[in-house]
Amino acid sequence: MLYDNLNVNEKGHLTIGGMDAADLASEHGTPLYVMDEDVLRKNCRTYVNAMHESFGEGSAPLYASKALSFKGIYPIVESEGMCIDVVSPGEIYTALAAGFPPEKMFFHGTNKTDEDIEYGVSSGIGFFVVDNHNELEVLDNAAGRAGIKQKVLLRLTVGLDPHTLEAINTGKVDSQFGVPIDTGQADEFVRAALSSSNISVEGFHSHVGSQIFESESFNRQAEILIEYAARMNKEYGFKLRALNIGGGLGVRYTDRDPLLDIPGRIAEIAEHLKAACSRCGVEMPVVYMEPGRSIAANAGVTLYTAGGTKEVRGYRNYVTIDGGMTDNPRFALYRSEYTVLNASRMTGSADYECTIAGRCCESGDRIAEDVKITKPERGDIIAVLTTGAYNYSMASNYNRIPRPAMIMISDGQARTVVKRESYEDLIKNEL
Ligand code: LLP
Repeated sequence: MLYDNLNVNEKGHLTIGGMDAADLASEHGTPLYVMDEDVLRKNCRTYVNAMHESFGEGSAPLYASKALSFKGIYPIVESEGMCIDVVSPGEIYTALAAGFPPEKMFFHGTNKTDEDIEYGVSSGIGFFVVDNHNELEVLDNAAGRAGIKQKVLLRLTVGLDPHTLEAINTGKVDSQFGVPIDTGQADEFVRAALSSSNISVEGFHSHVGSQIFESESFNRQAEILIEYAARMNKEYGFKLRALNIGGGLGVRYTDRDPLLDIPGRIAEIAEHLKAACSRCGVEMPVVYMEPGRSIAANAGVTLYTAGGTKEVRGYRNYVTIDGGMTDNPRFALYRSEYTVLNASRMTGSADYECTIAGRCCESGDRIAEDVKITKPERGDIIAVLTTGAYNYSMASNYNRIPRPAMIMISDGQARTVVKRESYEDLIKNEL
């Protein structure tokens, strides 16, 4: 099986963290997001330990909330020693409501409104990751009014394309995030930040992309940022105290994806970073990374009830499910691949080639195409793996479909962490 926490019991049912998927579905209803807390915690620990080891004490992973944000996740990541990346006042509000300390939050966002900035400052956010000069000015004023010196990281674009490294200095300089180094605009940005009286520039931030398996872009990013810090030191006396190198490590959605050695990858980045520091005469900064997908994705499984099969002769077989693009829009948006199982018939032969179709009135509502599972009957439980990241957080109510419930399982116990939306919830803001 794709992951260690999945197994098959004597009834031929899929088990998740030792719990029968069909029982979970009948007790909690479907569609159902199932999160395995032990996997989640293990993923957090992998990063925390590897980062301490490779970058030293004080360095830490920030959990990228955008992958999966709900109140119950914050006490878990906090207890594992992680800080968080938040990208909107909504994520800040959720984390604060869960009791997460604001000083351990890093506030991202490419267009923070005046209200967002005010909210962040008054909430006592630890670091703003400043995206552009407009934000810098508003933040400086807001910090001044609050009588504080706000710690910031400046978001820079390093001009790397993580998938086609040959294309360096083309596409990725043209980005709506951060300020590019290559065009010379980052210099002006750094200079302006250093002369803002209510802002303390702790360092830089850069993020090369998401679902990345190759290592060159991370290694190169580290080098570019250190070289740049050395130049800024020479020109403006800037001292790099913190460096946030973003998230983006890839996860395994199907057995065609590699299984990434995260500690190994972190050690490799650290090696490049340290070498660049000594080459450029820069003191090793505190390092942050922002994993989202590689913390949450493989901890999640979505369970659906099959509506049955539809065989369009000469074309394809469809298996319909009681969810789809509303709880997981990733196939519709990116044609992302998933591993699909018939959780009710794990001992059958998985040779029924089919497309998993959702319930929306839209032909793009699919979860996977041409996958092989044991042929289901109406009522069977269909499991889609690796749905912990960017599923619930990207869910919608299209076709007025209520969002599913989420349960967290640990030690053979399941607790509801997000209630299933009701029809009343759908109309509650409508006058
Ligand atoms: N930091 C920053 C600044 C980011 O923009 C992102 C992701 C992360 C960290 C976390 O990256 P991760 O470790 O999760 O790869 N909706 C897309 C993913 C968009 C990612 C956006 N930024 C998907 O479903 O694949």
